[in-house]
Amino acid sequence: MRTFALLKPEIVTYPSLCWQVLEKTLTAGLEVTRARKTTLTLAEAGKLYAAHKDKFFYERLIRHITSGPVIALELQTGDSTGGDPVARWRQLLGPTKVYRTAYESPNSLRGAFGLTDTRNVGHGSDSPQSVADESALFFDTLTPTNDDACRPSKSD
Ligand code: TYD
Repeated sequence: MRTFALLKPEIVTYPSLCWQVLEKTLTAGLEVTRARKTTLTLAEAGKLYAAHKDKFFYERLIRHITSGPVIALELQTGDSTGGDPVARWRQLLGPTKVYRTAYESPNSLRGAFGLTDTRNVGHGSDSPQSVADESALFFDTLTPTNDDACRPSKSD
């Protein structure tokens, strides 16, 4: 099982921030199975955030997410930790509203690096269906790799 994550421009624009976010992601037991750096068009951003089209923050969100590069990630939980990668990534991200991180999760990514409710580090799919839909916007197919096929066997 995998999840889909997106790092927003206010992180990806700054390599040292980007590296710190990735380092915390790996430390939290999430493995990166695919990654793609891109800059979203307005149409692509509209598809990603279609569910928010009528919200007061929509225009600001689309303007921000198309303002610079993003990194799309496909993540899985590592063999030793297991668990649900969707929940793990969203827990690592922290609450949408950055002011809540101060008392709820100061060590979350949004607690550490979030600037505003829009510039809040990243995005994470919230269900298996949104993982499939959102991954398809960035990656060709959902499950491209089979690690077992290329791992050395125990007898090697
Ligand atoms: P949402 O799906 O509610 O949160 P999350 O990213 O935690 O799943 O909102 C999607 C994005 O919309 C969020 O990452 C940033 C933006 N947003 C705002 O800009 N202002 C807001 O008040 C909210 C609730 C969201």
